[in-house]
Amino acid sequence: MSERANQLISDILRRVHEAIVENNVTYEEYQAAKQWFIDVGAAGEWPLFGDVFVEHVVEEQAFSNRSGSQGTILGPFHLPDAPLLDAPFELPHRPDESGDRTRVTGRVTDVDGRPLANANLDIWQADAEGRYSGFMPGPPDGNLRGQVRTDTDGRYEYVTVIPGPYTIPLDGPTGRMTAAAGWSPWRPAHIHLIVSAEGFEPLVTQLFIDSSDYLDTDVAGAVKPELIVHPEPVGDGEFAVSYDFALAPARTPAIA
Ligand code: DHB
Ligand code: FE
Repeated sequence: MSERANQLISDILRRVHEAIVENNVTYEEYQAAKQWFIDVGAAGEWPLFGDVFVEHVVEEQAFSNRSGSQGTILGPFHLPDAPLLDAPFELPHRPDESGDRTRVTGRVTDVDGRPLANANLDIWQADAEGRYSGFMPGPPDGNLRGQVRTDTDGRYEYVTVIPGPYTIPLDGPTGRMTAAAGWSPWRPAHIHLIVSAEGFEPLVTQLFIDSSDYLDTDVAGAVKPELIVHPEPVGDGEFAVSYDFALAPARTPAIA
């Protein structure tokens, strides 16, 4: 028996019971909700549901006092072991990859602005149609996933395409719930990153494209103003984004 489990489970159930009383929930609604829980499991959508509707509050709560750059949700589409890229640091992509070609550059520092050499940036994103490789039909395995390291000055760069907005699957139970409530099922266009360096707290974050639709209505509630970037046209139809990351010190000092 864990006191923590008792406290948390009791509190969540009490709030569900209160919602039932306050909204006069009927037997029909209870049976429909029960079937919906079953459907979410059968469709394998619990990770999707959790990351869309719950994770953002956990992230805000867990890191409200962390110094350095803002993080946001991890989401369900990270895959470990993306290839470490060499110059010219292009994320793997199809020869005819659609979307505006963009060079992302910046620095990784500590919270006092000291450069962190050999920091790692693990990058993943949807293609211009909002599809993630490894999870959705379309992009080949490994598409638009890669890692880069900072140089001795803490500088990094990589080349990618601007992703498209993403909609949660509309035909599954999570999409049906979203439609029933009248909410937008879209996430604005974003690039995921995990920035890490020895002795620092890993930063799980996303960069949001300022020209994207849905910045104000992200179904996953994960947009923060500090994470919105403006791709600058640099000629030949290409764009550039600059973004610096400051990492907080690791909470547990490394054991020597
Ligand atoms: C989901 C998708 C994302 O691209 C993301 O960043 C977070 C959540 C999702 O569908 O659950
Ligand atoms: Fe995403």
